[in-house]
Amino acid sequence: MQIQIHDKQFVPFLSAAKIQAAIQVVAQQINHDLAGTIPLFMPVLNGSVFFATDLLRHINLPCEIAFIKTRSYHGTNSTGTVEVTWVDKPNLAGRTIVIVEDIIDTGHTLTKLLALLSEQNPAAIKIACLLEKPEANCYPNLKPDYVGMQIPNKFVVGYGLDYNGHGRNLPEIYQLKE
Ligand code: IMP
Ligand code: MG
Repeated sequence: MQIQIHDKQFVPFLSAAKIQAAIQVVAQQINHDLAGTIPLFMPVLNGSVFFATDLLRHINLPCEIAFIKTRSYHGTNSTGTVEVTWVDKPNLAGRTIVIVEDIIDTGHTLTKLLALLSEQNPAAIKIACLLEKPEANCYPNLKPDYVGMQIPNKFVVGYGLDYNGHGRNLPEIYQLKE
């Protein structure tokens, strides 16, 4: 069913079941690839909190969580400037970090985060994102290690993703109606 958020109409795009199935696949890949490490999962607030908590429930490795917060979006467009706020400030030296992100759009956020986290000499930085919009990514070398689903370059809301603060609580994902 079509929904309205603020001034815009959205149509159903990804069901809760589809989202959960994609997350299970990502978790299996991480469990396999990072076996033998104690990964430090870094969910990027606020958007990825839903993805992170569902993903982590399927991780069977000893692991830790530390949050980081970024902000770049205004309405349905990326502003290009990314503000990063440390929520936890763990020691990253020698750690295997998994950045947990809701969506890669222009790639500005992850490019900035990778540079910032690399300064502290982690052993490895992996990127797990639920969604990727390959057509929007401005950085050809920015490739997520784990991707739930690739989607077209259209604005989406739900399951953590917002439109001007609303819609994060929706259990499924909706696409902006043209
Ligand atoms: P990027 O820096 O352009 O890659 O965008 C990263 C952030 O912008 C994501 O973490 C989201 O929080 C937000 N974002 C990107 N695309 C969308 C969208 O379609 N809907 C809602 N938020 C989005
Ligand atoms: Mg985000």
